[in-house]
Amino acid sequence: MKHVNRTPDQRPLDQEPEFNRFVDAAMSRRRFLKATGAAGTAGFFAATPIGQAVANTMPTRSQLMGFEAIPISTTDTVEVPEGYQADVLISWGDAIKKGAPAFSQSNNAQAQELQFGDNNDGMTFFLISNDRAVLVVNNEYTNNEYLYKHQGDNISADDAKKAQAAHGVSVVELEKIDGKWQVNLDGRLNRRITAYTEMEMTGVAAGHELLKTTADKSGKKILGTFNNCANGQTPWGTYLTCEENFNGYFANTSGSELGESYKRYGLGNKDRGYDWYKYDTRFDMAKEPNEPHRHGWVVEVDPMNPNATPKKRSALGRFKHENAALTINSDGYVVVYLGDDERGEHLYKFISKNKYVAGADSNRDLLEEGTLYVAKFSGTEGELTGTGEWLELTWGKNGLTPENGFPDAASVMIFAREAATQVGATTMDRPEWVAVHPDNQSVFCTLTNNKYRGVKDSQPLNAVNPRETNPYGHIVRWNPTNGDHTAGTFNWGIFVLAGNPEVHESGLMAGSDNINKDNMFNSPDGIGFDLSGRLWIQTDGKYSNKGDFAGMGNNQMLCSDPQTGEIRRFLTGPIACEITGLTFSPDYKAMFVGVQHPGEDLAPSNFPEGGTSIPRSSVMMITRSDGGVIGA
Ligand code: FEO
Ligand code: CA
Ligand code: CA
Ligand code: CA
Repeated sequence: MKHVNRTPDQRPLDQEPEFNRFVDAAMSRRRFLKATGAAGTAGFFAATPIGQAVANTMPTRSQLMGFEAIPISTTDTVEVPEGYQADVLISWGDAIKKGAPAFSQSNNAQAQELQFGDNNDGMTFFLISNDRAVLVVNNEYTNNEYLYKHQGDNISADDAKKAQAAHGVSVVELEKIDGKWQVNLDGRLNRRITAYTEMEMTGVAAGHELLKTTADKSGKKILGTFNNCANGQTPWGTYLTCEENFNGYFANTSGSELGESYKRYGLGNKDRGYDWYKYDTRFDMAKEPNEPHRHGWVVEVDPMNPNATPKKRSALGRFKHENAALTINSDGYVVVYLGDDERGEHLYKFISKNKYVAGADSNRDLLEEGTLYVAKFSGTEGELTGTGEWLELTWGKNGLTPENGFPDAASVMIFAREAATQVGATTMDRPEWVAVHPDNQSVFCTLTNNKYRGVKDSQPLNAVNPRETNPYGHIVRWNPTNGDHTAGTFNWGIFVLAGNPEVHESGLMAGSDNINKDNMFNSPDGIGFDLSGRLWIQTDGKYSNKGDFAGMGNNQMLCSDPQTGEIRRFLTGPIACEITGLTFSPDYKAMFVGVQHPGEDLAPSNFPEGGTSIPRSSVMMITRSDGGVIGA
């Protein structure tokens, strides 16, 4: 294998989970679960405070989901239920501007700047008029084995620039023709934002000494966004793109040991095989020690103005951002839930200083100022429910003082991870996407997996991350106290513990009671709600279909009824892909789903074109042949 440049998130899960030293304890906990309620799914949900309200009225089969579940797949196709169809909307390298070259593996950076970026991830559909829309899509990273004919040997300056051009965000106009959305190459909003597009840093960290570089003495003018994982959107029409594994692009050619504040973000002397540092001094920390501080933020993009400068929002903290789940609280404050996807990192919440006012110009600056919090979960191990509180990350409070290494307010945001540790936040099993239920009363977060929980001292078991090794992941749900997202406290319960009841007959590794042999999956990652409250769950897991993962097949998307807990498989992806990215047209009759890195690591995929073509990440459009609402 040659220079496969994956970040931790994109590395295959461990071949086999480490030896489970606590099987007996886990089994007794499973028995506890069984004992806390009636048999079946109702029992599991009745055992949680959240479930108690619905258990009595729970139907035997969800009325919310109107499709028949599909089986697992190991084929190189996208499968959907009967009555549905999946079409490729756009793939990496497809033109998004008139006159742009067609896809070829030999395309250079100039071509790539006019084409759809690689490894599509989070995305949002913005309707402009009945038959016109814009789809904004993150392009998380690149795979050397497909980006270059030489598969990553001797990356040249031109090669590095091409990779930079394939990162970032693609803004693509769609038009509806004969009832189907398709790409409009003439769209005036079509735009590529890349790893070298000019951006503006805003908020408390803007202009700080730690953000100044040779090329930018202001500490405010930053080039580029990269490793754009998932996303968010605002009611004032902007798109939020989240910078995740930014560390993988930096090298330190001096070879000297980096300080703790670098190590905490995974920065090391070597990059992950992109080689950008050889040609772009920004990526060599020996030359530009502050450049990494300029990445790891949430960036706000205005898709309706192709000339608008994207704004990095320092008030939302610097970490490995997964997505940004924004909701307007009943009193008008903007609340954004934010996961930091790394083993043993944390879950955050931002509350705006000012209120949202429908239609007001002032909304544009709402993410510039506010307060960041981090979650602390409490509970009794084995109960899978509990309470929690939000700990404030404000300079001068909770020990965030100069004596503890926080000289000013900006340092708390730039080193948010260290601030979270200082205040005593709960270490989590890799918080990925957060989604707010459309009733605005509950919030869900995927904890994708963690091989170190309970094994490494830094990651002790806790009530909300209850498995010693967690190869399968879980989803936690919490209700803010009194339905108030600005409240300092919440109640939580585990919505699903993914598991494999075929391999593990009992115990926590078999999964919660809403997991069975027909719907099992591992590593929940992307989640999102439709307007009717169906919870869609996408996976970024192990697709070996062997061992602990036997019977799980390729990565997939499932649909769930949050009231009953029932989970049904809706879509399966091609070989060696991740399913990530989810958005709908506002009538919910078209659903857009991302197929990311089919055939990664040279696995035998030719998706989507087949034949001997190289595999390409693609956005799929899912519709119903009867024109109905997806999932209903
Ligand atoms: Fe890019 Fe944590 O997924
Ligand atoms: Ca991925
Ligand atoms: Ca993800
Ligand atoms: Ca993931």
